[in-house]
Amino acid sequence: MTTRTPPTTSTLAEQVRLLSGQDNWRTEPIGDVRALVLADGPHGVRRPSAGQLGIGEAVPATCFPTAASLAATWDPDLLEEVGAALGREARARDVDVLLGPGLNLKRHPAGGRNFEYFSEDPLLSGRLAAALVRGVQSQGVGACLKHFAVNNQESNRLIVDVVVDERTLRELYLSGFEIAVRESAPWTVMCAYNRVNGVYCSDSRRLLTDVLREEWGFDGVVMSDWGATNDRANALAAGMDLEMPGSGKAFDDEVVAAVRRGRIDAADVERSVGRLADLVRRLDEGPAEVAVADDPDAHHALARRVAAAGTVLLTNDGLLPLTGGGRLAVVGRFAAEPRYQGAGSSQVTPTRVEAALPALRERLDATTDVTYAAGYDEAGDTSDTLVAEAVAAATAADVVVVFAGLPGAYESEGFDRDHLGLPDGHTRVVEAVLDANPRTVVVLSNGGPVELPWADRPAALVEGYLAGQAGGAAIVDVLVGDAEPGGRLAESFPVTVSDLPADANFPGGPKQVVYRERWYVGYRFHETAGVPARFPFGHGGSYTTFAWNDLTVDGQGQHVRVEIDVTNTGERAGSEVVQVYVRDVEASVPRPDRELRGFTKVHLAPGETARVGIDLGPRAFAFYDADAGDWRVEAGAFEVLVGASATDVRARATIDVDGEPASTSDVGSGSPWVADDDTFAALLGRPVPRPDPVLPLHRNSSVEDLLHTPLGRRVQPLLAGTATRQMLGSLHQPDAATRRMFETMVRTSPLRAMVLFGRGRPSFRSLDRVLQVLNLRGARDGRR
Ligand code: BGC
Repeated sequence: MTTRTPPTTSTLAEQVRLLSGQDNWRTEPIGDVRALVLADGPHGVRRPSAGQLGIGEAVPATCFPTAASLAATWDPDLLEEVGAALGREARARDVDVLLGPGLNLKRHPAGGRNFEYFSEDPLLSGRLAAALVRGVQSQGVGACLKHFAVNNQESNRLIVDVVVDERTLRELYLSGFEIAVRESAPWTVMCAYNRVNGVYCSDSRRLLTDVLREEWGFDGVVMSDWGATNDRANALAAGMDLEMPGSGKAFDDEVVAAVRRGRIDAADVERSVGRLADLVRRLDEGPAEVAVADDPDAHHALARRVAAAGTVLLTNDGLLPLTGGGRLAVVGRFAAEPRYQGAGSSQVTPTRVEAALPALRERLDATTDVTYAAGYDEAGDTSDTLVAEAVAAATAADVVVVFAGLPGAYESEGFDRDHLGLPDGHTRVVEAVLDANPRTVVVLSNGGPVELPWADRPAALVEGYLAGQAGGAAIVDVLVGDAEPGGRLAESFPVTVSDLPADANFPGGPKQVVYRERWYVGYRFHETAGVPARFPFGHGGSYTTFAWNDLTVDGQGQHVRVEIDVTNTGERAGSEVVQVYVRDVEASVPRPDRELRGFTKVHLAPGETARVGIDLGPRAFAFYDADAGDWRVEAGAFEVLVGASATDVRARATIDVDGEPASTSDVGSGSPWVADDDTFAALLGRPVPRPDPVLPLHRNSSVEDLLHTPLGRRVQPLLAGTATRQMLGSLHQPDAATRRMFETMVRTSPLRAMVLFGRGRPSFRSLDRVLQVLNLRGARDGRR
C-alpha cells in the first residue's frame, strides 16, 4: 500500500494527539476516521473491559495452543487455519488488530515468555508467524508482529541494552521478522521495550525504517509495546507511528516543541497520522462477507486437533498407543487441573477447559479401570502421603500415566525461569512411580525445555506443551491413538542448561546483556560443538514408521531443488517432517555446522509414498557479511542434509554452489563458544561497551536504581509499594505468576513508565525536577 490518506486534522498539536492511544486498547479517532480497537494475542483474543489491563478477566475466547505448541506442529497450513479462527473471534469481539504473533527467538530455554514464541530457529519462526498472520488478516483483522526486536528475555526487558554483533543480529534475531514481513505483509509491527546496541527500539530509525520498511518493504503501522516509548519525538522521526497505551498525552508538548525547534520534521508527524488512517481504511476495506459469529464448538475442535498435532513423542518403547483394558493409574494433579497457557498479557479467558482425567475416563470407561492420585499440590510440592498414594496406585496398575511439568508460577511474561528443573515435588513423584512400575508414560506440560535426568527410564515420554483449552482432550487422543503425535521439537532440550554458551550471559546485568555466544544458539551450538542435546531440535517419534529414499539435489547457480521419497511403511496413518539443513563445507568464516533451510510436513496413509520437494535459494547458502553490509554466498561445496531432526540425517548430498570467492578474513574463528573481549570486539567493530552507570539518575533509571541515593532509599519503597498495589488492585484474584510479574515489572521499570502509565501524572516536568533533586542530594551526600 503506497497511498497515504492525508491527515484530516490540521494543527500540529491535533495531529500529535492522534498518535498516542486514547486508553489502554483504543486509538484516537482521526477526524471522521474511527478509533481502532487492539487486543492481545497471540493464542486467543483477550478483550478486556474498557480501560483495564485486565489480565485474567477478559471476555471468554478460545484459548488455542500457545506458540511453543503451535511451533511443534511444523505445519504452516494448520497455523493459517488457527490464524483465521483467531481473526473470526477478533471480529466477533469488535477487535481490529490482534497483538500477535510473537516471534522472538528462543536464545535461552529459560526465557520466561518462551511459551509465547515459536522456535530457536529463525526460518521456522518466520514461516510459522507468516502463516498465522495470513490467517488472521484473511478475516479482515490486522495482525501485529512482536516484539521487534531482540527481546529474548524478560529480566530487565524494559531497559536492558542488548549488545549483539551485526552478523548474529541479521542471521538469528532479525531473519524471522524478515521472513514474516516478506511472506505475509503484516499490517502492524510492535517495537520491543529493550535497547539494541545502545538505542531503544522505539527510537531506532535503523530498525524501524531502514531495515523494516526500506529493506523489507513493510508498509503498515509500527506501534510501541505497552509503555515502551522512550523519546516520543525521536520515535516519530525513527518511524514509530503509534504510542500505546495512551499516556494521557504526556509526550505531546515535547513533540510539538521538537517540531517547532526543528529537531524533527512536521512531515514525520503527518506521515504517521497518514499511516494510521491508512490502517483504518485497510480494515474497512477488508472482506465484508466474513461471518462475524464465531463458532466456539468448531474452534474448540480445531484447538484440539492442533494440540495433538503439536504433541511430541519424545520416547516410546511401544507402550503407546494405549490399548485399553486392565487397570490404568493416572498420577499428577495436572491430569485433573491442566496447565494449558502461561501467565501475562497473553492469558486468555477460555470458553471451556478439558482436562485429561475426565477425558481418559470417558474414552476408556467401558474397558479400563482408571484410578487417580494427585501426587503433588498446586505449587508443585509433594509430601510422604501424596507420594505413598501415587506409589500405591502405580503398583496396583498395569499401566501408569504420570502428568508432570511446570506449575503456573514458573512461566510468565515479566520474569525468566530460575532454572530448567521440574519442581522437586514432580521429580520425586515421577521417580517413585518409575521405581514402582516401569510400564509408565510421563506426559509433560510446560512451555519450554526442562532438564530431564530420568528421561530414559519411562516406557514413553510425551511433551504436551501448554496446549490450550482442549489440550487435555488432545493428549488423550494421542495416548490412545485416536490421533497421532504429530509434533517435532522446535527447540533443543539440553542435558543441562550449563552446556549452553548463552547461559554464561543470561540474563546478564540489570543494564546490559552481551550476546557473546553469537550464532551458537540451540542446535547451531549442539551440532557445531558436538555437545549433544538430550532431545535435539526437530526430534519427535511416531506411531508408524517411514522410509526415506531417492534423494536428488538439482539446480544451477544458487537455486537448488531437493527431492526425496518418503514412504509410510507402518500400519497407521502418520505424518513426517522432512527437514533440510545446509552445511558450508569450505567457509572462510566460522559458521554453524548446519542450518535449517527448508522443511515440509507430509501426511501419509499406510503404504503411501510422497515425493517431497523443497526449493533452496541464495539465502540458504549465505552468511551475513557485516563489513559489506549484505548477505554473501561463497562459491564452493555445500552439503545438503535431509533428515528427521538436526541430528537424525537420513540422506545427504554435496553440491557446488556459485558465489563470490572466499574472503580471507576469519573474524571470530578459533575462539571458544563464549567469545572473549577481543573476539567479540572484533565482531562488534568497537570495544565491548561498559554497562551504563547507575548515577546520575535519569528518566530511564529503574525504580530499583533509586536505592542508590540516600533520598531515593526513603522514597523507593513507598513508590514501588504504591505502584504494585495499584497494579494488583486492578486485578481479580491475581495468581502467583501474575503477582511476581507485576512486582518485578515495577521494580525494574524505568521511571519514565510512571509518567506513561500514570497518564501524565506525574508529568515529565515534575519527574525531571525530582530527578534533579535526587541527583543533587546524592552528589552532596557523596561529598560529605
Ligand atoms: C507485552 C505485549 C502486549 C502488551 C499489551 C506488553 O507488556 O509485552 O506483548 O501485547 O503488553 O498487553
